Amino acid sequence: MTNRSILLANLTVKNFTFQNRYACAPFDIATASEDGLVTEELLSIYEQRKGPGLIIVEQAAVARQGQYRERLIYVDRDECIEGLSKMADIIHKNNQIGVVQINHAGSAADINLTGMEAVAPSAVVNPGSKRSVPRELTVDKIHEIRKQFVDAALRVKKAGFDGVEIHNCHGFLLTQFLSPLTNLRTDEYGGSLENRSRLLLEITTEVREAVGEDFLLLVRLGLDDLLPGGLTLEEGCKVAEMLEKAGIDMLDTSSGILPPMVLKGPAMLRDMIRTVKSRVNVPVIGAGELENIDIAADMVEKGEVDFIALGRPILKQPNFVEELIEKIKNQV
Ligand SMILES: Cc1cc2nc3c(=O)[nH]c(=O)nc-3n(C[C@H](O)[C@H](O)[C@H](O)COP(=O)(O)O)c2cc1C
Repeated sequence: MTNRSILLANLTVKNFTFQNRYACAPFDIATASEDGLVTEELLSIYEQRKGPGLIIVEQAAVARQGQYRERLIYVDRDECIEGLSKMADIIHKNNQIGVVQINHAGSAADINLTGMEAVAPSAVVNPGSKRSVPRELTVDKIHEIRKQFVDAALRVKKAGFDGVEIHNCHGFLLTQFLSPLTNLRTDEYGGSLENRSRLLLEITTEVREAVGEDFLLLVRLGLDDLLPGGLTLEEGCKVAEMLEKAGIDMLDTSSGILPPMVLKGPAMLRDMIRTVKSRVNVPVIGAGELENIDIAADMVEKGEVDFIALGRPILKQPNFVEELIEKIKNQV
């Protein structure tokens, strides 16, 4: 029998103390307004998500051109701050630490929704989203997107959140840069791993400079594309090491071009999570069918992961973790 109470242990990162080792994984639920503002319905859902010490708010688009599907949150303009601010208040009232995941979908953007062409490192079909052929980004446009991430992070901070998470998994723009399957560039943003990770590292460094040290900076890194010829776990671990040097506070983990749901079964990403955890010193968040308490406790106890993130269980039942914690308290 593992020591389940380890899941209830506090963890402090900088000035932020997490009340337990559970996180609400970011998952978009298409409940924002048509123009991407936080709605009362969305606030009510987050209010019900009691339990996890960390709430990672679902992907928010840094630009219209990078919106993935309808009724997702935007953080592309100051008008978005007011609704996000209400969400931050609700999360804090629940005694939780809140961060917002910021994203650009690149070639996975919905062009019918955005009314704009999709852009990507190279003009190739994304093997994950399989949407239309995107336009290859110029270097000037890459720099513009870099600034959009920085501006979005500043809006998240202005809204009163505790931190921001840069989305670099599941086939979206930054994943497209990292993957040799979608990045065929021959300039400083393509080719070697150093070049393919350049945009992510530049964004990380610039966001840190903009938000300062007292604000949590997370990256959700797709460590392995799960596709032949794609980013490998070893390459993913090297990027994680570079991110640590660039000053991230926590590493959130997942898969690269393909989403983790293509794998099935309890703790399906466990090997990947354990491997990267052995390569970095910052706290690591893992997800992927981790609702079994004993498996989760075993992973934390063995030092394979620091936070257990749950997605679909919370989607089905918003207070899933609150009940799980009661169960742990009654059984230890
Ligand atoms: C409907 C849905 C939407 C998702 N949206 C996001 C997202 O916005 N950002 C993200 O990083 N992951 C997203 N994910 C992936 C989840 O964060 C999580 O990694 C995945 O569901 C595996 O965890 P689980 O087995 O606990 O559900 C989404 C998953 C689902 C099911």
